[in-house]
Amino acid sequence: MIAKKINTALNAQVNAELFSAYLYMSMSAWCSQRSLSGMANWMRCQAQEEQFHAMKIYDYILERGGHISLDAIEKPSAEWDSPIALFEETARHEAKVTGLINDLVSLSIKEKDYAAHIFLQWFVTEQVEEEASVSEVLERMKMIGDDSAGMFAMDMELAKRLFTPPVAP
Ligand code: FEO
Repeated sequence: MIAKKINTALNAQVNAELFSAYLYMSMSAWCSQRSLSGMANWMRCQAQEEQFHAMKIYDYILERGGHISLDAIEKPSAEWDSPIALFEETARHEAKVTGLINDLVSLSIKEKDYAAHIFLQWFVTEQVEEEASVSEVLERMKMIGDDSAGMFAMDMELAKRLFTPPVAP
């Protein structure tokens, strides 16, 4: 049986992951509205990943005999000054999520919930990958700067991303 403190914290993380999905959907729409269809695709895949993260935690709570308590999802931003600004916010957001995951890991240690601790390792690894992939796109965009041909090529590159749900566990 899951401890109440851990259950509450994991419920909050379900909300945080769903907010992330909402934020990336909003970013995807912003890109689509500017004919940046490759970036829109990248953000849509990112949103799908976040939904997967939310459901992974949701399933874990239920598997451990816990209680799901869904909260309202905060309204995401809808306007950015440029594609670079959009990816800068993505990088900041992922760093914030990493902090939330680290807090959960700390809590699992404090509460001696070793099952939760093992479960959360997947998210620790996932955040390393998430931060690295956003950072790579952002750094390449900064190199391109105002070069529209470069941005066009970048958009074509981001069109290739596919969302593939990770295999269990
Ligand atoms: Fe679920 Fe992008 O972290």
